Amino acid sequence: MRDIQNIVILTGAGLSAESGIATFRGPGGLWEGHRVEDVCTPEALAHDPELVHRFYDARRAKLAEVAPNPAHVALARLDAEWSGQLLIVTQNVDDLHERAGANRMLHMHGELKSALCAACGDNVEWEDNLPPGTQCPNCGTPALRPDIVFFGEMPYHMDVIEAALADADLFVSIGTSGAVYPAAGFVQTARYHGAQTLELNLDPSAGSHWFGETRLGPAGTLVPEWVDAMLA
Ligand code: APR
Repeated sequence: MRDIQNIVILTGAGLSAESGIATFRGPGGLWEGHRVEDVCTPEALAHDPELVHRFYDARRAKLAEVAPNPAHVALARLDAEWSGQLLIVTQNVDDLHERAGANRMLHMHGELKSALCAACGDNVEWEDNLPPGTQCPNCGTPALRPDIVFFGEMPYHMDVIEAALADADLFVSIGTSGAVYPAAGFVQTARYHGAQTLELNLDPSAGSHWFGETRLGPAGTLVPEWVDAMLA
């Protein structure tokens, strides 16, 4: 890969699959057993807050049973050793990137270990179950909700992400189906600004044709190999 200084990496559920966290779309997918519309929309939260809060309580509790896999560890190593700009943009709401040691990263779809106040907009770290009607520590309103970006809501940090894509020399997409925008469009933005593009995925994604190169296989194998080559 010709002179690469600035890297943007997009990660999806496939990165955490080998840690034992189910992906969304695929056999045994996380949404199975629940229609997305029933648990991941503002309407669902209004209609059945108990169901939505319980769904995310279960996923938050699951974090205690899983650990970063070699792909998370390799990305954290790249983060620590890459001298140029680097930004890991994750669609995932788990904390495995952080637990592997990543720093230059952000969650565009929110985080399980955070609660958002629907009244004042403050978010607070949250470890345990979050029953509907929990009081916000900032404003006192009983309006804390899972800090998850629901379908139809604006993802977090889009200004930072767009700026990083505009400066990127290389855009790498790992473990995502390319099914959900705006993340699925990042590869086109990166190409528009002249970046090289690489996809590391178990199966071809909906956007594979946009990538200069696609490598198919498990992230736990492909990502450490790619990071070793970048740091060689
Ligand atoms: N290694 C690499 N890729 C994998 C692995 C693996 N071990 N296992 C699965 N994959 C790939 C699948 O081939 C698929 O392309 O990961 C992708 C997972 O796709 P999705 O389940 O659609 O997850 P994701 O792309 O992260 O979903 C995007 O949709 O439901 C919303 O907000 C949710 O952030 C999520 C967004």
